[in-house]
Amino acid sequence: MEKISPLSKPKPVILTCAQPTGNLTLGNYLGALRNWSKMLEEYECYFGIVDLHAITVPQKPPVLRQNVYSCIAQYIACGLDPKRCHQFVQSHVIGHTELAWILTCMTPIGELQRMTQFKDKAAKLGFKVSNEPESQGIKFTHDGVRAQASINAGLLCYPVLMAADILLYNADLVPVGEDQRQHLELCRDLAGRFNQKYSETFTIPEPYVPSTGARIMSLADPLRKMSKSDDNEKATIFVLDEPDQITKKIGSSVTDSGTEIKVSQDKPGVSNLLSIHSSLSGIDFPSLEDHFLGKGYGELKSEVSELLVETLRTVRESYYELINDKTFLDSVLKEGAQAAQKRAFKILNKVQRKIGLPDRPR
Ligand code: TYM
Repeated sequence: MEKISPLSKPKPVILTCAQPTGNLTLGNYLGALRNWSKMLEEYECYFGIVDLHAITVPQKPPVLRQNVYSCIAQYIACGLDPKRCHQFVQSHVIGHTELAWILTCMTPIGELQRMTQFKDKAAKLGFKVSNEPESQGIKFTHDGVRAQASINAGLLCYPVLMAADILLYNADLVPVGEDQRQHLELCRDLAGRFNQKYSETFTIPEPYVPSTGARIMSLADPLRKMSKSDDNEKATIFVLDEPDQITKKIGSSVTDSGTEIKVSQDKPGVSNLLSIHSSLSGIDFPSLEDHFLGKGYGELKSEVSELLVETLRTVRESYYELINDKTFLDSVLKEGAQAAQKRAFKILNKVQRKIGLPDRPR
């Protein structure tokens, strides 16, 4: 048994999550999961599958339920060893929505309307969110009345639920890709605001954004983030893609004019491929640029494909072993929910007392 010295400090806590909305992408893998799996020793890790975030856009119930299993199997296949971390489903833990409501009551609507992801998602649904100063309330401009009725408040309040996910565990560090940085800032602001009003309660979480791979771009349009929901199937590599799918997608990825292989703002396609290469091979950009001096885009693509095929092979093989073992996956989620609930209740109770909610009758 591990010897606990009175001086031994508890490990710092990591909390991070992904949405169970289909297969994880290469962006999720390089920007998030691969780094999470390197943190299991140094930190006490809580990894959530945020099904309540997923329902901010329409979901088919049986598909969502299956996606949660698929997500946990992919987490483990990507290296999150369940013996060394807690993996849980958000809706299994009481406290996420309770704390989210409390924080919602402290969040000005204007701050939520300014969130880039909200504006992007609203735009996808056909909305334009007005930034004019007079629109202090929610104001959308759009030509169709039907579309107006279809945007839900959950989409607007999404970042508050995310803040609750983090603060409910008093997480020290939150490893995420670049796209979540703004949400993290809101979370830190809310924590600070709460602490100031009701006395020190929340740890102010630090974001951890990797130096390479934090923003993997679409293969079809390297100016846009690689995303699960891209309609163009050539735009996204999924961690469960077969080798020939990977090779085809990388082969048809958009490159740039000219022939030089270097990281540069006017070469977003090549820069993206170099980022993928560097994240997988561990070789820094200057050395890669030297390596590809005088070589063509074809050689760059073929090296990137090889690295991807090799790395994702183990993920895919391990996934297909795990996905049929529902008993095992359930046991992982049960342990995760119990550990998460224990920690969450402590913080939720503290918060509820501080804001004046009466104690629960025993
Ligand atoms: P989600 O499910 O979109 O993505 C999960 C993680 O993958 C990262 N990521 C990327 N990284 C690099 N390049 C990309 N193209 C790319 N696409 C996604 C994301 O940054 C993220 O780290 N709102 C979150 C889920 C969430 C959460 C939380 C995260 C809910 N509560 C609490 C951290 C802490 C999201 O939608 O992630």
